[in-house]
Amino acid sequence: MSMINLPDPSELQVLKKLAIEAAQVGGEILQKYAKAGFSIEHKTRLSLVTDADKESERTIVALIKQAFPTHQILAEEEGIHSEQRSPYKWVIDPLDGTTNFTHGFPLYNVSIGLEYEGTCIVGVVLDPTRPELFVGVRNEGATCNGQPIHVSKVSELGKSLLVTGFGYDIAETADNNLDEFCRFTLRTQGVRRTGSAALDLCYVASGRFDGFWEMKLNPWDTAAGVVILEEAGGRLTAYDGAPYSIYGKKMVASNGHIHEAMIKVLGQST
Ligand code: IPD
Ligand code: CA
Ligand code: CA
Repeated sequence: MSMINLPDPSELQVLKKLAIEAAQVGGEILQKYAKAGFSIEHKTRLSLVTDADKESERTIVALIKQAFPTHQILAEEEGIHSEQRSPYKWVIDPLDGTTNFTHGFPLYNVSIGLEYEGTCIVGVVLDPTRPELFVGVRNEGATCNGQPIHVSKVSELGKSLLVTGFGYDIAETADNNLDEFCRFTLRTQGVRRTGSAALDLCYVASGRFDGFWEMKLNPWDTAAGVVILEEAGGRLTAYDGAPYSIYGKKMVASNGHIHEAMIKVLGQST
């Protein structure tokens, strides 16, 4: 990675602490609704939102605004909260894995990433059910519950376990990842679909999966996970091997060793 500017170390620690606190408060809200019940609205037939998503987002955004009123904020449900110019931009998914959440399937998280001058420098992903707290800080490494994490050493696609996800328009377009899912399923030890892109990235970062790809991602799905994955030694690109941007849709993430092989499979048409 080329040289990137970072805030001074003490400022970085303050930002990291706030990201963790905000994720923990969001996680408590999700668990409150998981126990007490929630109402579900449909954004589209498959894309759901609950009052847990909304309260988690409102609370996280309020905490960040209180601490740093000039920072930009992009959050999934309400969009851009501040048009002010600032080198900082918080990118928030208040509940990643909403479909899992609504079914009581315990694989969801709060994801908070922070960009500085256009580069993600802090990433926090909290799975409140296990609980597992993944943290990545640029040039400082990645941890899960305080312990350093690293990507796997698997170097052959045939020995890899991969993970992917599907966009909510899966039934409305042929550009829906099903061909790619079949191709990888036939060439690997398996492909999983967890329903949570942020945790998919954290699980590659911790060596539980060897690679991840998805074609219709949003910035809030990946802003935190990219720091955690890269700081754990992983590699991230677009499908063609170009640098990945959280504002791009297609991502390949891996332990590095199987990256080129994954790009090759994604480039093959059926
Ligand atoms: C979704 C999940 C899912 C991924 C979708 C995302 P949401 O986020 O991360 O795993 O496949 O692309 O939209 O809607 O649950 O926040
Ligand atoms: Ca998401
Ligand atoms: Ca979400």
